[in-house]
Amino acid sequence: MCGIVGHIGSDISSDVVLEGLKRLEYRGYDSAGISFLSNKNGLQLYKKTGKLENLLEVLKDVETTSNLCIGHTRWATHGGVTDQNSHPHRHGNISIVHNGIIENADELKSEVVDKDFEFKSETDSEVFLALVSKYNSQSSSFKEAVAEAFKHVKGNSAFVAMNAETKEIVAIKRSAPLACGLNPKNNDKFVSSDPYALVGYASEIYFPDDEVLCHLSHDEKIIKFYDLNLKESEKFQHQKADTSSSSTDKGEFEHYMLKEIYEQPKLIQELVQDYIHGKAARHLAKVKSKEIDRFLINACGTAYYAGLLVVDYLELINKIQASAYLSSEFRYRNPLFQKNDAALFISQSGETADTLAAAELVKENNIPIYSLVNVRGSTLYRLCDQNLLIKAGTEIGVASTKAFTQMALTGRLMAASLGGELDDESKKKNLEKKFLLLSERINDLISGVEKIKEIAESLYNKKGYLFTGRGIYYPVALEGALKLKEIAYVHAEGYASGELKHGPIALIDEEMVNIAVAGPELLEKTISNIQEVKARKGIIVTIGPENNKELMKISDYYIPLNFNGLDELSPIYVNVVHQLLSYYMAKFKGNDIDQPRNLAKSVTVE
Ligand code: F6R
Repeated sequence: MCGIVGHIGSDISSDVVLEGLKRLEYRGYDSAGISFLSNKNGLQLYKKTGKLENLLEVLKDVETTSNLCIGHTRWATHGGVTDQNSHPHRHGNISIVHNGIIENADELKSEVVDKDFEFKSETDSEVFLALVSKYNSQSSSFKEAVAEAFKHVKGNSAFVAMNAETKEIVAIKRSAPLACGLNPKNNDKFVSSDPYALVGYASEIYFPDDEVLCHLSHDEKIIKFYDLNLKESEKFQHQKADTSSSSTDKGEFEHYMLKEIYEQPKLIQELVQDYIHGKAARHLAKVKSKEIDRFLINACGTAYYAGLLVVDYLELINKIQASAYLSSEFRYRNPLFQKNDAALFISQSGETADTLAAAELVKENNIPIYSLVNVRGSTLYRLCDQNLLIKAGTEIGVASTKAFTQMALTGRLMAASLGGELDDESKKKNLEKKFLLLSERINDLISGVEKIKEIAESLYNKKGYLFTGRGIYYPVALEGALKLKEIAYVHAEGYASGELKHGPIALIDEEMVNIAVAGPELLEKTISNIQEVKARKGIIVTIGPENNKELMKISDYYIPLNFNGLDELSPIYVNVVHQLLSYYMAKFKGNDIDQPRNLAKSVTVE
């Protein structure tokens, strides 16, 4: 959730940290702040509510040259969105930033923290600062003080503490993302909640295990790692920095979300190249080598809806029993495991707290764990036995679009591998053809976007929106509603078409919109459901086959799609209509599309 960046080394600290925060702003944008040791003016602290640009405005005339700096973008948990509650928090020479929740903050405040510590904020994070300050006066080193403080806190968190007197940074985490970076050429050292912030700065990336202290100082040529008893530790993973991150500027697009929607046709083609013709095929084969009777799929939000499609693929193509679970529920429901179970975790970020907790739970039960994940090197990636990268490139828009498509399609490729489709030349060719057809159709859809835009303009101010779909279109009805809620801030719900008359039909009146998916599968039944809404004066937007006169007649708005040849991939095609409708409705409402209110890209707290 919150973005963390720190740097020690050459005189570029504030610039690096501000650039890193810019890259991580999509993880939280309630407020931003930096604390740096100015070359001229000693330790400085600047923080401001709102987007990073507010902080940059404050810093406009400030001399920021420094070789020691930490910064933060916040997604508020404890304490409102105020300047005081923004991070970093500072006491004397010590500043800290925090991502996560200290579950026992109140207890620590009344029982452990020095009574005369003057709290300036309502945050749980400042309790950690109070502890570090207390132990710093009693310890022989700053890292000892941070270790002592960390031993007291409960809950999942990452902390970065900076000491301007001793000129060092110490970072530590428990079940929260944290990475360190090193540029051996100039001895620059970095820390961040996401290695993406360090692209172009650090060539070596280190992922510490939980409860491992990371020590960054001017004196050492390397980053040092210690356990909580201050013994040097090797509990970290090292990898070369990923330089392949796709371009992350908006280019000609007004929003990242639109850019990411438009990227989909090309990404689908690349997926074919990598998994059908390229090196990635061997990862698919590794999943195949296990005997699997049942798949337990776990994910949150959009990734969960992609998981529902993967369930359909596994059952349809492989006749393997599969169920999808919301990780936030799964982790607390005492799941029953069986011999030959396998678990599949789906995540764009690979850092979603609930998904990770569910993965750990499954791992403890000795079930093989696989992932469909976008971020190589993420916590989920490192946890799983086998990873299938969805290859969506960096997704910056907070509302997920291209990741959904790539998750569902990588799931389809996994099903193909499990079912032997990729071992049979003609079946493989057919599948490739279908993927390329999907890419082409999405391209055509995007070229005809004006029509969707016009519909969005007529409908963005209605009372509510019901997305409906049957069978394989049900997951995209759910995803369509989620997308619209997230960015247009309107009430929207996804329903299985056949379920409308079991309750939600009571909502239908002339101000209620039904966005109905009428794919070729179960078409007659879907038409009957649309008729039922029409009879109650609901506004009907149908996404249906080209030239279906009956559907055109009963619909107020008709979006014709060429479903031919797409078969089980057609929900992904339909979903692009949902993405575009949501995008334009949000745009007509004047909302902040890439950074919608209250949301953050990577949900690293429960
Ligand atoms: C919706 C959205 C969220 C994420 C969910 C899981 O547009 O982005 O619902 O899908 O928070 O995130 P990941 O995929 O990173 O695990």
